[in-house]
Amino acid sequence: MRIVIASPVPQAVADRAEAEFDAVLSQERELDAEALVATLRSSAARGVLVSSRQKLDATTIAALPETVKIIATCSVGFDHIDHEAARARGIVVTNTPDVLTDATADLAMMLLLCAARRAKEYAAVMDAGWRKRFALNEMLGVQPGGKNLGIIGMGRIGRAVASRARGFGMHILYHNRHRLPDDEAIGTRYFDMLEEMLPHCAFVSLHMPSAGSPVMTRERLDLLPRGAILVNTARGDLIDEEALLAALATGQVGAAGLDVFRGEPAFDLRFRDFPNVFLTPHMGSATIETRNAMGWRALDNLARFMEGRHPPDAINY
Ligand code: DGY
Repeated sequence: MRIVIASPVPQAVADRAEAEFDAVLSQERELDAEALVATLRSSAARGVLVSSRQKLDATTIAALPETVKIIATCSVGFDHIDHEAARARGIVVTNTPDVLTDATADLAMMLLLCAARRAKEYAAVMDAGWRKRFALNEMLGVQPGGKNLGIIGMGRIGRAVASRARGFGMHILYHNRHRLPDDEAIGTRYFDMLEEMLPHCAFVSLHMPSAGSPVMTRERLDLLPRGAILVNTARGDLIDEEALLAALATGQVGAAGLDVFRGEPAFDLRFRDFPNVFLTPHMGSATIETRNAMGWRALDNLARFMEGRHPPDAINY
């Protein structure tokens, strides 16, 4: 079965795609919408593997040739694909849940710790050539142990972050669409209302899909205890960035660790000016193990579909 792999993938994924499919690979560059449509037209492929960086809006979906029946995104998030437009055209969309949970949860903890322990400032000291010892009262960070971490969105990644944070001695509070049946057993405290949870959080970490409008608004940032630390590895549009910049400037938010931004890859360069904001470029899943697993999972979905069966990770059918 012919498929197009529209984004460069790790070699082990490319090898399997070539072994199991009649695959047209684009290992040199990620195809933009125009090139994607052109390649799908010329190849008459039935399926396509894309990344979360490739936006498939209603216009692009409408331009796809009739031959295309499945879009497998190599990501857990699928806000870059108009899956309803795809469904209306009879195109199945699949994602890759589960396999990036650990890598993303690891990154959330890394950002939390880097923000808490002033990693950006200390790294800058070393980059500049450390010459002077610090006094006992200089450049002090804060310790996560014994503090409350508020997790917003308690799906797979939220739970993985909770289990890691417990290892650091943190107390876990969470807000979610619904309460987990085992939340007390796993030592977490549920808050039905975000407004009730935020005043108790020394740290907050976001783990929910794109909501269309910010969840961390100016009003909600103001509800945090002064100096709270904010971590975002989910989606940039979950935070009102203008409000966060203002809260960082006043010290209402004490530090932040951010991997995702509104309008990526462009991001508000003012974040760089804050020594207490640790920034990474949307790389939560960027480990070889996870990227291989994501690619294979996307190929599993394509293979299942080509066998005439329901792909396990279909999100719009
Ligand atoms: C995902 O899989 O949704 C990650 O954010 C990578 O894009």
